[in-house]
Amino acid sequence: MAVRKDTLWDRFLSPIIRSFIDEEKLRQFYESKDWQAESDRFRRPDVTYPQYYSSQNFHGIEGGYLNGGAATSYDPITQYVLPPSEKWVRQGLIDSIQGKPRRILDLGCGTGSTTLMLKQAFPQAEVIGLDLSPYMLVMADHKAKAARLDVQWRHGKAEETGFPDASFDLVTASLLFHETPPSVTKAILRECFRLLTAGGEVLILDGNQKTIRQVDWLTEVFEEPYIKAYAAGNLDAWMGAAGFEAVQTKDVFWLQQVTQAMKPIPVEGYSAAQQVSTSKTLDDFGSEGFPAPAF
Ligand SMILES: C[S@@+](CC[C@H](N)C(=O)[O-])C[C@H]1O[C@@H](n2cnc3c(N)ncnc32)[C@H](O)[C@@H]1O
Repeated sequence: MAVRKDTLWDRFLSPIIRSFIDEEKLRQFYESKDWQAESDRFRRPDVTYPQYYSSQNFHGIEGGYLNGGAATSYDPITQYVLPPSEKWVRQGLIDSIQGKPRRILDLGCGTGSTTLMLKQAFPQAEVIGLDLSPYMLVMADHKAKAARLDVQWRHGKAEETGFPDASFDLVTASLLFHETPPSVTKAILRECFRLLTAGGEVLILDGNQKTIRQVDWLTEVFEEPYIKAYAAGNLDAWMGAAGFEAVQTKDVFWLQQVTQAMKPIPVEGYSAAQQVSTSKTLDDFGSEGFPAPAF
């Protein structure tokens, strides 16, 4: 795909943000690592890269996520694009968790910023961060070791993780869905549903769909190929269609949202399959939200 060079990102934001970044320090870090050898520690031979992922630039980063440069520059850029502050926005997801999870999976974990906060919030929990880029996992592992946090990193696809059914009681994803086509987002939500125990929680932190829909230039700022489709959709509806209940979205500042939901606890005499199929029909309610399933 041809790379546009006339976006707001290229013309204004990138030069401004670059002026705050110590590029020499980043270059030294980048050159200090043998990216091939380090990424091989995480790379799983059975993982194939979907076309929507390997053919695009994301987040203003050329070449997508499959290189050490993306992993090195991700955090320095991200800290300036999550107002009012990156930590505050991520804390919005952590603070919304209702239970006390024991096994946590963070999908599309990237360099692990939210994953590490999850481990800090729930130190007794087993925490796994999964990402399609083994280079991002190199950086995530580097940060976990520096913070002395015991987190496992797994190379894999969020829509097909390979973990057993009902093996987590919390599944999260931060800043993933504005980068996946809606069909993939829906597949990831179905995978979340499969992975969760009954009563388990799913929490998604991402761009505020309402805001992005209303403020068109926001979709032009970054080279984000799927952000318009993300904003046009309705995460509450997608969650309901995947079978979740108690779906709710709240704003995190102006630009982000946290959407959370629960995997229903089967009611005696009413099979899980029936519950999912009931929820599926509720998708027909579109963006208006869902009446509670009538048990
Ligand atoms: C914008 S970054 C977000 C990273 C991190 N969660 C954060 O909050 O900073 C999106 C991440 O999702 C990963 N990703 C994109 N599609 C994926 C998929 N289908 N399965 C797993 N990871 C994916 C990318 O490699 C990238 O690391």
